[in-house]
Amino acid sequence: MDLSSEKELRELLAFYAEAGVDAALTEDPANRLVAEDARTVTAMRQVDRPGAAAATAGQNQAPVFAAPKMAVAVPDEGQVALARQRAASAATLDELHLQMAAFEGCNLKFTAKNLVFADGNPAADVMIVGEAPGRDEDLEGLPFVGRSGQLLDRMLAAIGLDRESVYIANVIPWRPPGNRTPTPQETEICRPFIERQVELVGPKILVTLGGPSAKTLLNATEGVLRLRGSWKAHVTASGVTIPAMPTLHPAYLLRNPAHKKLAWRDFLEIKAKLLALRAG
Ligand code: URA
Repeated sequence: MDLSSEKELRELLAFYAEAGVDAALTEDPANRLVAEDARTVTAMRQVDRPGAAAATAGQNQAPVFAAPKMAVAVPDEGQVALARQRAASAATLDELHLQMAAFEGCNLKFTAKNLVFADGNPAADVMIVGEAPGRDEDLEGLPFVGRSGQLLDRMLAAIGLDRESVYIANVIPWRPPGNRTPTPQETEICRPFIERQVELVGPKILVTLGGPSAKTLLNATEGVLRLRGSWKAHVTASGVTIPAMPTLHPAYLLRNPAHKKLAWRDFLEIKAKLLALRAG
C-alpha cells in the first residue's frame, strides 16, 4: 500500500490502535520474515561448509538483523525452575521485589516499561490478586491505577476498605504488549513469584479477580462465573491454608455492569468473613 498521504497514515494508525497495537517494541521496524529466513539460510550454509560464512560475509547474502532481546523464545522449564529457585530464596517482600526486578526469564519484561510489584499495605488482612498490568499500571509501576482500579477502589470502599487496608498484586507483574492475554508459558514462569508473594504477605483472606487469577492461585478449572461467590482455599508452599474468594474482575464489570450485583454479593461475603476472623 502506498502510504504517502497523511490521511492513509492516520487511518493505518487508527486501525493499529483499534487492534490493540499500542506498544512500539523496537526503535526501528524489523522485517522478521526476511530476518528469520536469513538466519536459517546462513545456518544451513554454515552446516554445509564450515567457515564459509565468515569468508563470504557481506557477499550476496540476505541481511541478517539482530533479533531484539524480547523476541528470543525462552526455554520454559528452565525458566520456571529458575523462577522457583529465585522466589524461594526471598525471605522478605523487599528481597522478592529485588529478585523479580533482576529476573530475565520472562519475555514480557523486555516490552514492559516497569515491573508492577504491588500496592497497598503488606501487613493487611486482605490480599487482592489481579491478572496483569495494563497500560496505566505499566506507566506508573503500580497495580490497578487505571479505570478498573478506580472501580476496584469503589468496591473496596463499599465494604469499608481502601489501599491502606489491602495489599494488591498481579499474577503477571509485567504488562503483556497491547494488553494481550498472557500465554500459559508466561503464567507458569511468573507463578512462583506470586505464590511466594502471597506466602510472604500471609493475608487472612485472599481475593482473586477474574478467571486467570483464580485458575493460577486456586488450581481451579471452571470459569469464574461458576467459581465466584463461594470460599475456596489457597495452600502455600509451606502448607498454610488461606481462605480465598474468587470474584469478577473489575474490567469485566466495566463491560458487563449488570454483573456488578454478583461482585457486590462476593464483597459482602468478604466483609463478613473478615469481621468473623477478626472477632475470633
Ligand atoms: N487489570 C489487572 O488484572 N491488573 C491491573 O493491575 C490492572 C488491570
